[in-house]
Amino acid sequence: MTALDCAGLRLYPGYLDRDGQAALVDTLRQVFAAAPLFTPRMPKSGRPFSVRMSNCGPLGWMSDENGYRYTPTHPATGRRWPPIPDVLLAMWHELAAYPFPPEACLINYYGPAARMGLHQDRDEDEFAAPVVSLSLGDSCLFRVGSRNRADPTHSFRLHSGDALVLGGEARLAFHGVDRIQSGSSRLLTEGGRINLTLRRVTRPDVAQAPTDSDAAKALHD
Ligand code: SIN
Ligand code: MN
Repeated sequence: MTALDCAGLRLYPGYLDRDGQAALVDTLRQVFAAAPLFTPRMPKSGRPFSVRMSNCGPLGWMSDENGYRYTPTHPATGRRWPPIPDVLLAMWHELAAYPFPPEACLINYYGPAARMGLHQDRDEDEFAAPVVSLSLGDSCLFRVGSRNRADPTHSFRLHSGDALVLGGEARLAFHGVDRIQSGSSRLLTEGGRINLTLRRVTRPDVAQAPTDSDAAKALHD
């Protein structure tokens, strides 16, 4: 597996193989049954996003007239978000280089015309943890810049199974999705693209941080 590493941005092409992707899509169908995709709306204006969303994990990201925020429950059903699937927790543990689990997994579904404007992920209290993402289905043209909106950006394609880590310098990099390459994958029967982003939202209590001696003890237990 080759990783492109540039100031905290790491790309892992083909991180999840085709069977793993298909199994994860089956799991996500169960997530959608419990926590249906909803259409987020822009703060103040209430203008709908072109992307539909759901979440899993103790917290989920949402946006409506009242602003961007994390909530423990689905805005329409009022029920708690389903748990984060094990394969995504394993991906976090492998790629995040951060000793605490993710608390939110935002699920974005892009139909053929959906896009996401340049933005920073900054609704979390903890920026020491990276944002770890996985793409499924149609490829997209992904754009990333730096911490300043006006700085130059570059773009590259994200394909089904690719993992991307935005950490370190890149944790607060502006990023977005310019367009979806409709029909580029047959993974999703309905077409389109799913992107999953794992995030740590709260700052952990450092008193609970695993220590080297805990790790050594675990090896001997
Ligand atoms: C996001 O920034 O939340 C999603 C990025 C992506 O779709 O790759
Ligand atoms: Mn983002």
